[in-house]
Amino acid sequence: MPASRLGLLVLGLALAVVPFPARAAVEAEPPVRESWPHQGIFGTFDRAALQRGFQVYKEVCSACHGTKYLAFRNLTALGYTEDEVKAIAAEYTVMDGPNDQGEMFERPARPSDRKPSPYPNEQAARAANNGAYPPDLSLIVKARAGGENYIYSLLIGYEEPPAGVTVPDGMHYNKYFPGHFIGMPPILQPDGVTYADGTKATVAQQARDVTQFLAWLAEPRLEDRKRTGIKAMLFLIVLTGLLYAYKRRVWADVH
Ligand code: HEC
Repeated sequence: MPASRLGLLVLGLALAVVPFPARAAVEAEPPVRESWPHQGIFGTFDRAALQRGFQVYKEVCSACHGTKYLAFRNLTALGYTEDEVKAIAAEYTVMDGPNDQGEMFERPARPSDRKPSPYPNEQAARAANNGAYPPDLSLIVKARAGGENYIYSLLIGYEEPPAGVTVPDGMHYNKYFPGHFIGMPPILQPDGVTYADGTKATVAQQARDVTQFLAWLAEPRLEDRKRTGIKAMLFLIVLTGLLYAYKRRVWADVH
């Protein structure tokens, strides 16, 4: 191999193993570790927190983020009555049709409809957000390493950039976001929502509530899954006892 080629090869290998120089500086902080009521074998969702979280999502986040898998009727799982769900759905307008004239038309949403997204397509979403794309939040808790803890941390993680760091135009500094510069503004404000149940709406409280709502949205059947698991374990324990007793009986006369 000619010397110049060998040189290139060595350089290439060296570049491949040397980490990106700026990387260490922009590594995101590990998310804070919160405890969540729905965690653990017996954990269940806190319905009051889910309703508050839905309120935060509806009044704040849904201006930019869609939740394409959320049908209004699913909201009964948060403890809303069917009439309340009907009223929530009716606040939105959806496209339906075609009618007898072959035309599409708008009508108030019904519980069976999915919640409409704020933007008609990704391009429109980017155009409205400085080029950044607000992702659909339906599965976001599952889609990010750190799950609930990451989403919660991100929402409370905005701060002034350290000295010497210039935040690019249209971006914001967030210590938990990989790269630290995020296109989403610090959106939660103290008392930014007024909770129906009188809970004080601090930024941390809103972040906790909306995170729990998003955790439910990403896995609405979590409680069923745990219940099935517990039943299966109980069944196996009883079965083990019975089989053991049976074995002792069968072998009782063998000396
Ligand atoms: C003004 C519009 C706007 C609002 C309101 C908004 N976001 Fe965002 N959000 C964005 C944009 C834009 C991005 C993409 C940021 C990027 O990639 O730099 C984003 C990204 C995110 C992400 C993904 C972060 C990641 O790791 O990729 C999460 C999670 C998120 N938003 C949650 C929320 C929640 C929860 C709310 C309500 C409390 C909310 N957002 C309200 C614009 C918004």
